[in-house]
Amino acid sequence: MPVITNIQDLKDIYVRRVPKMFYDYTESGSWSEQTFRENVSDFDQIRLKQRVAVDMTNRSTATQMIGQDVSMPVALAPVGFTGMQSADGEIKAARAAEKFGVPFTLSTMSICSIEDVATNTSKPFWFQLYTMKDTGFVSSLIQRAKDANCSALVITLDLQILGQRHKDIKNGLSAPPKPTLKNMINLSTKWQWGLGMLGTKRRTFGNIVGHASGVKDTSSLSEWTATSFDHSLDWDKVAKIKAEWGGKVILKGILDADDAKAALSVGADAIVVSNHGGRQLDGAISSIKALPAIMDAVGDQIEVHLDSGIRSGQDVLKAVALGAQGTYIGRSYIYGLGAMGEQGVTKALEVIHKELDTSMALCGHRLITDVDRNTLLVPKDFGREWA
Ligand code: GLV
Repeated sequence: MPVITNIQDLKDIYVRRVPKMFYDYTESGSWSEQTFRENVSDFDQIRLKQRVAVDMTNRSTATQMIGQDVSMPVALAPVGFTGMQSADGEIKAARAAEKFGVPFTLSTMSICSIEDVATNTSKPFWFQLYTMKDTGFVSSLIQRAKDANCSALVITLDLQILGQRHKDIKNGLSAPPKPTLKNMINLSTKWQWGLGMLGTKRRTFGNIVGHASGVKDTSSLSEWTATSFDHSLDWDKVAKIKAEWGGKVILKGILDADDAKAALSVGADAIVVSNHGGRQLDGAISSIKALPAIMDAVGDQIEVHLDSGIRSGQDVLKAVALGAQGTYIGRSYIYGLGAMGEQGVTKALEVIHKELDTSMALCGHRLITDVDRNTLLVPKDFGREWA
């Protein structure tokens, strides 16, 4: 087993072990992938400020997200098809998260269902909701998340229609994969993955197949989004869903200060500054560039989180220093999951925690809760130069 020292090491193993279709799904942004790339490269424009001769004993990365204790400000993001990256992937990731003391967010488009994850974990997780035209089905998802004791509802606002990801169309992405010659040839080289899949019954969208109707090809994400997702979602509907849920609500997909204010006025508990990992509106600005203006607009009135582009603990530190109370990783833990199952997710969390802890110390901080804008050197007008 190679020595894993960073997220890229996990990715190198991941690419060998997981079928091309699911690797491509993870590694895609929409259209030209400009936003996907800039989510990462914009973090590189920010520098950390080194401080010396500061006592670095008794450090802690512990903090809170939406009032819940977390061992570091990093949650696992909702990721569709997670149970196709490794058999029962959502259960494995949720278990790793719970042992590490960070939140796990289950996607509506997961393979393991809400009930599967609840039965196989002991702490509450968060449920991410895509809103569907069928309001009865949305209500049933909300009820199922309540019954499973989920401690937050994460409503995704930036995917009523799907941004085009060329590779997914060309690969015929589906769960389970279709038995075409091309797929069979590729799958035959992924024996570990295949053995795992033979050992589980969970091979399609567990939250929706058998619960929702009206879709011809139930294995296809593009078919579900085109046929069932609610294209007419607006702030009134968001407020109604919030009332129906009655618990903590996190609104995900905010890049614009006016949208952040609207989220505030519907009474959200937190917002996630996010462009969906560059998978939706290609050409949108990176999340880290969007963060300063959103902090200026609502940062003193609502908890702000960030996802899209986090590949290291240094990235987490930069986001926190710019005001984010928490961050989410998607690809970074999916690489670990596809590479080594639950152990790989734990490894991804350990890597990020160590990077965060060491970098925080070298910046002269013992507590993540003390980190602020003075920890960074940010290019003049970073995120504010747009006319
Ligand atoms: C959402 O499910 C996505 O594929 O980005």
